[in-house]
Amino acid sequence: AKALSQLRPRQPPILRRHVVRAAPIHVSSVGARATSAVQGEVARAVPVEYHARTGINSRADYETLYNRSIQDPAGFWADLARQFHWEKPWRKDHMSFNFDRRKGQVSTTFFDGARTNICYNAVDRHIEQGRGSQPCFLWEGNDIGEDRVMTFSDVRDEVSRVANWLKSVGIGKGDSVAIYMPMVCELPIAMLACARIGAVHSVVFGGFSAESLSQRIADAKSKVVITASGGARAKKVVPLKQIADKAVQLAAGSGFQVENVLVYEHKSVPKGECAWTEGRDTWYQDAIPQQDRHCPVEWVDSEHPLFLLYTSGSTGNPKGVVHSTGGYMVSAATTTRYIFDLQPGDVYWCTADCGWITGHSYLAYGPLLCGAQSVIFEGVPNYPTPARCWQVVEKYKVRQFYTAPTLVRSLEAQDNKFVTQHDRSSLRILGTVGEPINPRAWMWFFETVGEGRCPIVDTWWQTETGAAMITPLPGAWPCLPGSATLPFFGVLPVILDDKGKELDGEAEGILGMKQAWPSTIRTVKGDHKRFEETYFSAFPGYYFTGDGCKRSADGQYTITGRVDDVINVSGHRVGTAEVEAALASHGACIEAAVVGFDHDIKGQGIYAYVTLHDGNDFSEDIRKDLVKTVREQIGAFAAPDVIHWAPGLPKTRSGKIMRRILRKIAVKKDDELGDTSTLADPGIVQGIIELRGK
Ligand code: WT7
Repeated sequence: AKALSQLRPRQPPILRRHVVRAAPIHVSSVGARATSAVQGEVARAVPVEYHARTGINSRADYETLYNRSIQDPAGFWADLARQFHWEKPWRKDHMSFNFDRRKGQVSTTFFDGARTNICYNAVDRHIEQGRGSQPCFLWEGNDIGEDRVMTFSDVRDEVSRVANWLKSVGIGKGDSVAIYMPMVCELPIAMLACARIGAVHSVVFGGFSAESLSQRIADAKSKVVITASGGARAKKVVPLKQIADKAVQLAAGSGFQVENVLVYEHKSVPKGECAWTEGRDTWYQDAIPQQDRHCPVEWVDSEHPLFLLYTSGSTGNPKGVVHSTGGYMVSAATTTRYIFDLQPGDVYWCTADCGWITGHSYLAYGPLLCGAQSVIFEGVPNYPTPARCWQVVEKYKVRQFYTAPTLVRSLEAQDNKFVTQHDRSSLRILGTVGEPINPRAWMWFFETVGEGRCPIVDTWWQTETGAAMITPLPGAWPCLPGSATLPFFGVLPVILDDKGKELDGEAEGILGMKQAWPSTIRTVKGDHKRFEETYFSAFPGYYFTGDGCKRSADGQYTITGRVDDVINVSGHRVGTAEVEAALASHGACIEAAVVGFDHDIKGQGIYAYVTLHDGNDFSEDIRKDLVKTVREQIGAFAAPDVIHWAPGLPKTRSGKIMRRILRKIAVKKDDELGDTSTLADPGIVQGIIELRGK
């Protein structure tokens, strides 16, 4: 698409040693990259008996509500928002949006004029309604036998203590706080503490490296970092404090000074083994119990930013996605309630880490806002055995279980006895998110785990959308393996062709959004122009998702995968430009090009073509060192699966790398390379093919 190739996002401030080039966004031909996971397997509708307590039990029930949500979004969302406490009401015309840059600045508002606090609504409100002594966090440690239950009252006390400490070190409304923690209760507690005082949390997944953390700290200007001495994942110890120390030092090198580091002592790394910076570092266990357990909530405007969460795109450095308070709160709560049929007291388990958006919306905020009990699991699904997930389901009598297709596929590969040896009769709803699920894995999840009894909700959404967008509602219509089916209330999807024309009826194209929903991304931290260029320039008037999508004759949507240069590895978004920049920062590397390839377990794997400087021989040592460089600069999850030596990269005469060719060579489809005559040096292709497997 012409409009797309003209687009050049502005370079964000450079904080790393190396530069991530800002290349134009270009959309590859639709469907070309549809995950083979979905291709070739036929999906048939699977009817499942389920009676939802939400009252939505047929497609007609859904359509009545859906139609209202589209015709009168302001009224529809206002009705749903009334269940929450608002210190000040919204204006009648509280909702507005502009998705068209030609008409001025892109913007979205919901509940404009109102004031509220999400921590109050997620925690205090339940206490005031007499549910203070009910559990809300069920923590299960990495090792069997470690667990902890926290009630709403416990959580309010602890959140207030942390909030008071934050205030004592000068954090107030609008200030950002970086959180780099393992999956302990103190992680969502730290998030809620920020929200309580109007501070903006920026959670960084514990699998990110020091470089990635420092970049996020500096970009968000987080003067305070909350971390832990370490984290435990199966038999591995993650030295979080050591990584955070290095990140703080790197940030200082780039001109940003962190003032305070709060350190939760985790048993994996005892106090004595932690390096310490006097005056900057504080032990959580020393300082927090000293604080007052009362902390008044700070009422904030509905549009006040609640959090930042960094995510990768096809170009440039990661973007700090900004979410608002009121709109995000209503979207997170409403989707959780309708999609998981979540009622107060339900035991619900989302396996995501709080470091990702799924952990924000469906482990922390959504379940708390619904008054449910949320399982927080610190460990990994196959430790100490592949039965761990089902053991946890049995132990807590989990009713709703929400996970990623990659986990389903990895457990499917194990003996079914690991599943069947545990009682799963408590399960009512299963859910998946993050990547397309192939019908075979879907059927295994449905039959073996769910005993053919539980609807599966395949929820499509993104960091930027804040909440699920296209998703089945349990019991309302038959499941369609591999398909997210229908738009959630208030969501108006469109299928666009390459030129940005809306396609009607049965169609395949690029997925866009025509109307704002409450948890629409509000901006990119510090760069509203980049926000507009990334999401609202490809197709003027629409939010651009980056995904390809098919719509069936009866209106059901099936996602076919990314159409931009984003790779989805085990449901984690990896930007090709970032991996390429990390590889290119290695002294031996002149240039690198990264593409995705289909991977049985991870959905997609990372395939890197690397050109070395003269005088460097292709060697196992350099290969290992290149992979190590990526692990250090981004994180282990972004490490390339394959390094393919390349004498040069296939480029057009204008210097653009032809990834289409590289994707084909990666999967040995040499006869499908298509036209290579437009390459600056067509001969390079044969040279690359000859080095495959070397
Ligand atoms: C990308 C967003 C949403 C939280 C986790 C990932 C892919 C997400 C599905 C699904 C097919 C999916 C899309 C999307 N994706 N859910 N149910 N079926 N693809 O959030 O890191 O922002 O990634 O994940 O490609 O654009 P994220």
